Amino acid sequence: MRALVTGSAGFVGSHLVDLLLADGHEVVGIDNLFRGSIANHSDALRSPRFCFNECDVLDAPQVERLAAGVECVFHLAAINGTKYFYECPELVMHTNVQGTENVLRAAAVNHVKSVVFTSSSEVYGQPAVVPTPEDAPSVFEPSTSVRWSYAVSKLLDEHMCAAHSRQSGANVAILRLFNAYGPRQVSSSYGQVVGMFAERLLRGKPPVVFGDGQQTRSFTYVEDMVRGIELASRRVSGCTVINIGNSDEVTITDLALLMRSLVSEMGGVVPEPGQLYEHEPLRRCPDISRAKKLLGYSPKVRLGEGLAMTLDWFRSRI
Ligand SMILES: NC(=O)c1ccc[n+]([C@@H]2O[C@H](COP(=O)([O-])OP(=O)(O)OC[C@H]3O[C@@H](n4cnc5c(N)ncnc54)[C@H](O)[C@@H]3O)[C@@H](O)[C@H]2O)c1
Repeated sequence: MRALVTGSAGFVGSHLVDLLLADGHEVVGIDNLFRGSIANHSDALRSPRFCFNECDVLDAPQVERLAAGVECVFHLAAINGTKYFYECPELVMHTNVQGTENVLRAAAVNHVKSVVFTSSSEVYGQPAVVPTPEDAPSVFEPSTSVRWSYAVSKLLDEHMCAAHSRQSGANVAILRLFNAYGPRQVSSSYGQVVGMFAERLLRGKPPVVFGDGQQTRSFTYVEDMVRGIELASRRVSGCTVINIGNSDEVTITDLALLMRSLVSEMGGVVPEPGQLYEHEPLRRCPDISRAKKLLGYSPKVRLGEGLAMTLDWFRSRI
């Protein structure tokens, strides 16, 4: 198969590219390197079956050209990272909405049979039910809160994906990802919690736990996550929304303590308090029954094991 991966140089995208290449596919990667890095493709670029293009998904003609001859589009390019939702909500919404429209149009023009779109657990807002199934309602605070700039852009993208499937007959998998972690994760304040904790702990600093630390997330090792994404490209017919994640829920304080215990030489470091983002959801955990049933998806890597591999990766870079 020849696949197009947008956001290929990002955290999840680069692991997806590696998996597709390992499975024998040809891959065209697109990224404007807003948050991704060419270093994430250091292995992939050694393969003659990989071609990277520094390209913006807002550049519709170029995206259309790069989608020629492709059987599956994996659309991951987006502005992701909680701090951006608050700092540049217009850029988040423009990139996520216009970019998705361009990618779907490119898929339609090139008669691409299958599209996989990475949506997010954020579309549930303040989840009404936890563990959250796909048919749970989305619950948002008023639109004066920029918190939801990313969530509503992803929700609109989902509707565009459904319309694309209906009009073109393509198979479209809408995947709601729940907190991936692993090597290549961004560790700056624009990144996600595991990367930020790893960076601070390995530099001998306390991890900063926002709020009372009792808020929960469920973490999925990135290799499990990309296997779920790849399975969806083969097993979804029609248009389907599927949660991809891990159903083990953990508080952020427990995450910090577990990571601290894995960085043994820093055993004495005590987590520091920080301020919770406005309207930060207090619980997040997916119901993954649909992914199990439709895709045969089941995350394999346990949290302690995945965190140890992630810390090893950060250790080799710090
Ligand atoms: N990592 C997670 O836990 C998670 C959770 C939910 C949803 N997602 C979604 O999965 C996808 C991948 O997430 P990630 O964690 O790898 O994020 P990431 O930021 O590492 O990857 C996104 C990539 O898109 C690129 N990009 C941004 N704007 C672009 C543009 N205009 N043109 C081309 N490329 C552009 C970035 O440079 C980056 O490499 C995103 O769509 C994200 O919203 C991720």
